[in-house]
Amino acid sequence: MRFSDLRKMKEETPAAGERPRQEVPRPAVEPAAQERREKPVPAPPKPEPAAAPKEPPPPGPEPSRRTHAAPPKEPPFQEQRAQAGERYSLLMQETTSFIKAVDRPYTEKYQSVLGVCAMVAETLRTNSAFLSCVTYGTADDYLRAHTANTVILALAMGLESGLPEEELGLLGFCAMAHDIGMTGYSDLYSEPGRLTESERAELSLHIEAGAAKLERVVDLDYKVKDRAIKIVLQSHWRPDGTGYPVPADDGETDPLAQIIAIADAYEAMTHQRSWRQPLPPSEVVKELIEKEGHGFNARGVKLLISAVSIFPPGSIVQLSNGETALVLKTNRGLLAKPLLEILLRSDFSESPPELADLKDHPLISIEHSISLEELSRRNPKCAGRLEVSRWWTDW
Ligand SMILES: [Fe+2]
Repeated sequence: MRFSDLRKMKEETPAAGERPRQEVPRPAVEPAAQERREKPVPAPPKPEPAAAPKEPPPPGPEPSRRTHAAPPKEPPFQEQRAQAGERYSLLMQETTSFIKAVDRPYTEKYQSVLGVCAMVAETLRTNSAFLSCVTYGTADDYLRAHTANTVILALAMGLESGLPEEELGLLGFCAMAHDIGMTGYSDLYSEPGRLTESERAELSLHIEAGAAKLERVVDLDYKVKDRAIKIVLQSHWRPDGTGYPVPADDGETDPLAQIIAIADAYEAMTHQRSWRQPLPPSEVVKELIEKEGHGFNARGVKLLISAVSIFPPGSIVQLSNGETALVLKTNRGLLAKPLLEILLRSDFSESPPELADLKDHPLISIEHSISLEELSRRNPKCAGRLEVSRWWTDW
């Protein structure tokens, strides 16, 4: 049974005492070119002058975002997606520029990164389609999309934890900086095939190299810089004592470092690398829960789930009516009822472009997620098109 059949059936047989539902046609998925309406992109908010941020709040009641008044009605998905693409493009430009800038002897990049991070946070608050941009990858050098995506995920988690603006800014900056030491190891990280143990040990030095590069950023308060360096150094360290580098002291891990570590791991596991295929996003969430967070703290993993849900954007899912669909965006508070794009009918033939919001279809549920390889077995053409659409080429 397809969604359209179900809707028709529901209209024909209203429950006793219930008014027949008004026809609300589902929007067709328009070609990307049509969706990108000519619309001015607002300039990123002007950054605040650098100042020493307050100490991070102790773990406590979550999330301030959920306790706010009900958000205004969202615009149509196509508009949201077009805006999300424009904002992602701005983030990608800043990411590329930052990665290049920290290779200079000195640079003034803190304020401009803060401005872009404020734009990312504002877009996450107002546009629920923006989070789906973390499915993009950059084919020429994975580091650019990985860095931009880690910024988005870390800020989404920071918003869930109710971080104040100053902390959010520092979180975004450190997420942007967490892998800047990698530029000195591009021959290693782009090598096809698994690295040897000694190559992996060599690559792990990118953390200290990145922390040293942060010394070159001059437009920030020295106390902020000291904390940013500490956060970057801790961003690959895990509270269970695994990871690297081993901290010089036995002090507490900064809560911002833990958020970046989880965002970094989720992003890396859900994207292709030269030696492995990506894992389905919902499988990564499941693995983080089942294996007690891969050494991460439980609160951090909960923040990730609050941000991306259990069927995150980009998940390919099997529906109870036999159809195959792609998760486009989550519905706040409804973990298993996201907005979908129907990909295949139950006989695995391609579906015409169609959106389906599961919150409006209580009788249809997600049975499980499937991998891109499984989608390829069901319909190679559809899988190929989806794979291509995940490369970010707008630069
Ligand atoms: Fe990373």
